[in-house]
Amino acid sequence: MELKLVRQSAASVEADAVIVFEAEGGKSFATALPVQYESGEISGKFAEYTLVHNVAGFAARRVLVAGSGKPEGLDPAKLKKLISGALRTLKGKGIRHVAVAVGSGAQVAAAAEAGVVALWEPDQLKTTGKDPDKAIRTVSIAVDSSDAGIDAAFEKGRVIGTALNTTRDIAVEPPNILTPMALVARARAVAAASLLEIDVLDQDRMRQLGMGALLGVAQGSAEPPALIVIRYDPPTGATKDVLGLVGKAVTFDTGGISIKPSEGMEKMKYDMCGGAAAIGAMQAIASLKPGVSVMAIVPTVENMPGSKAQRPGDIVTSLSGKTIEILNTDAEGRLILADAITYAKQLGCTHLVDAATLTGAIVVALGHAASGVYTNNDAFLSTFMAASKDAGEQMWHMPLFDEYMEQLKCVYADIQNIGSRWGGACTAAMFLKEFVGDTPWIHIDCAGTAWLDDAKPHMAKGPTGIPLSTFVNLALSWK
Ligand code: BES
Ligand code: MN
Ligand code: ZN
Repeated sequence: MELKLVRQSAASVEADAVIVFEAEGGKSFATALPVQYESGEISGKFAEYTLVHNVAGFAARRVLVAGSGKPEGLDPAKLKKLISGALRTLKGKGIRHVAVAVGSGAQVAAAAEAGVVALWEPDQLKTTGKDPDKAIRTVSIAVDSSDAGIDAAFEKGRVIGTALNTTRDIAVEPPNILTPMALVARARAVAAASLLEIDVLDQDRMRQLGMGALLGVAQGSAEPPALIVIRYDPPTGATKDVLGLVGKAVTFDTGGISIKPSEGMEKMKYDMCGGAAAIGAMQAIASLKPGVSVMAIVPTVENMPGSKAQRPGDIVTSLSGKTIEILNTDAEGRLILADAITYAKQLGCTHLVDAATLTGAIVVALGHAASGVYTNNDAFLSTFMAASKDAGEQMWHMPLFDEYMEQLKCVYADIQNIGSRWGGACTAAMFLKEFVGDTPWIHIDCAGTAWLDDAKPHMAKGPTGIPLSTFVNLALSWK
């Protein structure tokens, strides 16, 4: 699919279809489409799509009127949903070239991003039922303005959209193909194409360093683990800060010896989505060149109950020196993140944001509507929340009360890897906090948001790429 920016009006752009917007109660196209307006078919209600052929005054063969709802409610996140939904209603109809007519710079960025991500499908491995002849081949973003900022806005949207698809392409791969070593290969490909430095720690180096928490998780699998580090430095060293993006990448989580029920276990191929988002974010960051150094630190393992697997009752020594009693081998994400966080600090990260499909409990708390975020630094949190809002990724601040730490106290080791039955997302976050220390840090539990279980009008089933856009916006907004 090709994405283009054209400086043309909605009426003059030549395409097989042009997408235009109508707000609730608006009359923008009433002269050209009197019947549709009078019948109430076009009401401007959000995500109402009306396709009309041969509209007088339009060069395009079809006009899709997209209801944009209340004018004050149309932020970039909603606009992306609206445009993605519009593109998806037009797919599979033999329409080759679609134009989207938008206004301001912010709308151009949202439209470009939507133009790239909307048509993504999780069907890479399907050999039948795909009809490439009917696919949309070109999406043009039509802007009737000569404003200079528009090129940059278009580029930002295009780059973030492309990176989201990179992340989704990686995340959608099944766990027999996307092993930790395969993830390393994907990360190397991203780094090479983006001219970024990459360093991959293998099992031997992790042993030398003493990453006992990460290695303990890996030992039940025949697939060797790795720790991926990708680094970006700004062209001019604007700040001394180094932002570390730590992403959980368990390529499959059986639970280990504390094995999960078989029903729904296939979903645990998604347990590398945090890592895939961190890798994809580096691709966008390399293009958009924020003024801060950024590192992705991605620990990758497969959590299996092999004969060498760790047991409940094992005590491991983490890279930090802290000992951890493993009470449940299914609480593995926090173990690999503990060593990755310690390593990120050793590498010089001054700020940390981790993303992990860490707990089922966060899905109980927030459903699929928002990721849960935890922090040890309220100032950093407010910068972060602004970046997430701008990205259109919903995040909800969750607490780290001292009571959660009480639950992790352990007699045999410094800390244990699970708390009690309740507040599981909070005790998981509290566990991570113990390894973060004073470094400003945010933890994103994206277990409910990284994967769409059922297709939506605006998005295919499968990986969403969350929280890649927040990562990128946070780096771009760095002061
Ligand atoms: N990857 C899972 C988190 C998860 C579980 C996401 C279920 C979505 C649905 C994580 O490694 C895990 O297994 N967490 C356990 C922790 C528990 C053993 C304390 C969980 O949430 O059940
Ligand atoms: Mn688990
Ligand atoms: Zn897991």
